[in-house]
Amino acid sequence: MPKERTLVLIKPDGVMKKIIGEIFSRFERKGLRIAAIKMLNVSIETAERHYSVHKGKPFYGGLIDYITSGPVVAMVLEGSDAVAVVRKMVGTTDGAKAEPGTIRGDFAMSINFNTVHASDSVESANYEMPIFFTEKEILDYEMPDKDFI
Ligand code: CMP
Repeated sequence: MPKERTLVLIKPDGVMKKIIGEIFSRFERKGLRIAAIKMLNVSIETAERHYSVHKGKPFYGGLIDYITSGPVVAMVLEGSDAVAVVRKMVGTTDGAKAEPGTIRGDFAMSINFNTVHASDSVESANYEMPIFFTEKEILDYEMPDKDFI
C-alpha cells in the first residue's frame, strides 16, 4: 500500500466535548504517524477555500459559520492507505448514522456538528493540507515501530 498523507480537522464541537486527546490517541494507537498539528481559529477566507467544493449547496452557509465559530485542531496524518483508513475510523458524515466504534459514531449526533473532518481522497488531501500547513510544518521523521506497521 502506498504511503499517504491526509488532513483531519477536529471541529469546534470536538474541542468543546474535550475529546482532542481521545481523537489523537485513536489515530496514534492505530499506527498513523502525526506529521503536523495546529490549533487555530479558522478565518472565513480559509473556511471558504477549504469547503469550496460545497459552495452553492444548501448547507454551505451554515458550514462556513460553524467551522469559523470556535477553535479547530488541524492535523496531518501519514500512513499506508491513510486516506481510506482515516475515513473508516471517522465514520459516515451523519453522526446519528455513523457506526459505533467510529469517531462520529461514538461522539456525534448530527450531520452539522459531526466532530471531525477528514479528506475524502488523495486529491482532496493534496488540496486541503496546504490550506492549513506550510511544507515546513509537515514533519518528516521515523517512528521506532515503523517496521511493524
Ligand atoms: P465534513 O467532512 O466537514 O465536510 C462537509 C461538511 O458539511 C460535512 O462534514 C458536514 O458536517 C456538513 N454537511 C451538512 N449537511 C450535509 C449534507 N447534506 N451532506 C454532506 N455534508 C453535509
